[in-house]
Amino acid sequence: MLALNSKLPEVGTTIFTTMSALAAKHDAINLGQGFPDFPMNQQLVDAVSKAMLNNYNQYAPMPGWMPLREAIAEKIQYLYGAGVDPDQEITITPGGTYAIFSALTAILSPGDEVIVLEPAYDSYIPNIVVNGAKPILVSLNPADFSINWEAVNAALSASTKAIILNSPHNPSGAVLKENDITELQKLIRKKDLFIISDEVYEHLIFDGRSHLSMLRYPDLRERSFVCFSFGKTYHCTGWKLGYCVAPAELTREFRKIHQFNCFSCHTPSQVGIAEYLQHRDAYQELGGFLQQKRDHFLQCMKDTRFRFLPSYGSYFILASYEQITDEEDAAFAIRLTEQYGVATIPVSAFYQQRVSQKLLRFCFAKKESTLEKAAERLRNL
Ligand SMILES: Cc1ncc(COP(=O)(O)O)c(C=O)c1O
Repeated sequence: MLALNSKLPEVGTTIFTTMSALAAKHDAINLGQGFPDFPMNQQLVDAVSKAMLNNYNQYAPMPGWMPLREAIAEKIQYLYGAGVDPDQEITITPGGTYAIFSALTAILSPGDEVIVLEPAYDSYIPNIVVNGAKPILVSLNPADFSINWEAVNAALSASTKAIILNSPHNPSGAVLKENDITELQKLIRKKDLFIISDEVYEHLIFDGRSHLSMLRYPDLRERSFVCFSFGKTYHCTGWKLGYCVAPAELTREFRKIHQFNCFSCHTPSQVGIAEYLQHRDAYQELGGFLQQKRDHFLQCMKDTRFRFLPSYGSYFILASYEQITDEEDAAFAIRLTEQYGVATIPVSAFYQQRVSQKLLRFCFAKKESTLEKAAERLRNL
C-alpha cells in the first residue's frame, strides 16, 4: 500500500454526517443539519426546468452566466447601495463553502495566519490548514456570541493575513452590529488584512435587524471576499450554487483557483435563478418567513426544560440543557436521537477543543408539523 501523508490528519467524519446517519437509523426528526424539509418555490423549479428544456445544458462561462451576474449586481446595488461590476467582481461558484475555500486558497501561503472566531462553521479550519496556513482561534463572548474585539486585536501577529467573519452566524444566530463594523474598521487601519465574509444567511435576519454586509462599507469591501449561497436563499441547499463578490484584483486571483478546479457551474440553475432574482419579494420575505418558524418553534418548546438563547438570524437557535442533565453535549445529543427521536448538533462540534457548554443547536427551517412533532417528543424529557 502506497504511503499517504495526510494533509488533514486531524479530520474525520463530521458531526453533521454522524448525526444525520444516526437520525436516519433511529427514524428521528432531524433538527440537526441545516436544510429545509419544506418544498422550495415552484416558480424557480419551473424556471430551471424551462432552461433545461430550452437547451441551456452546456458549459456556462467560467465566471458565471452573465445575466445572473448582472442580476446579482442589481440586487447588491438595491440592498447594500454598492456598485459592483458583474464582469470583474462577481464569480458564480458551486456553493458558499467552495467560495470560502477558493478565497482562502487564493490568498494564503504556508505560514500565514487566519483569525477564526469560534464557534465556527466546520469548513473554515480545514480550508486554512490544507493551504499550509494556521488558524488562530478567538472565542466569541459566551453570553451572546458577540465578537471579543480585544481578543481579536491581541491575536494579531506579523503573519496575520486574514479574518473570517460570519453574519448571521452559524451556530448561534448572532448578527454583526454597527459597533462591530467600527471595530473592524479600526482593525484594518492598524493591520493590513483580508476579510473573508461568510454571508450565506444574508436574508435570514429577524426582529427588524439589517444585515451589515461588508459590501456596504467601501474601506471593508476593498479587502473582502464576500461569499453567498443560493441554497440558503432559495431553500435549495442540494443545488450547491453560490457566488463570491470581491474587488477586480482579488477576483482575478480567485478565478485562477476556480478555473482549474470547478471551471463553471450548473448552467440551467444559473439561467433559472437569473430570471427568478427579478422577484425582489422572494428574498425580501425570507426573514419574516423564517422568523415565524423560529417563533413557532419557541412556542412549541416553551413547556420543555430547554432554555433558548436569542437568535437574530440564520436557520438556527441554541438551547441550554443545564436544567436537564450534566452530560457532555455530544453524549446528550446522541441520547436524544436514540431515545427521544430528535437529532440536534452539539455546539462543542464548532470548537477545535470540543469544550461542552451544555448547548445544542436546533435547526428551525422545518415545516410547522415537523417542529410540533419534535417539541412533543422533547416535552417528555
Ligand atoms: C455558515 C455557513 N457557511 C456556508 C455554508 C454552506 O453553504 P453552501 O451549501 O452554499 O456551500 C453553510 C451551510 O450550512 C453555513 O452554515
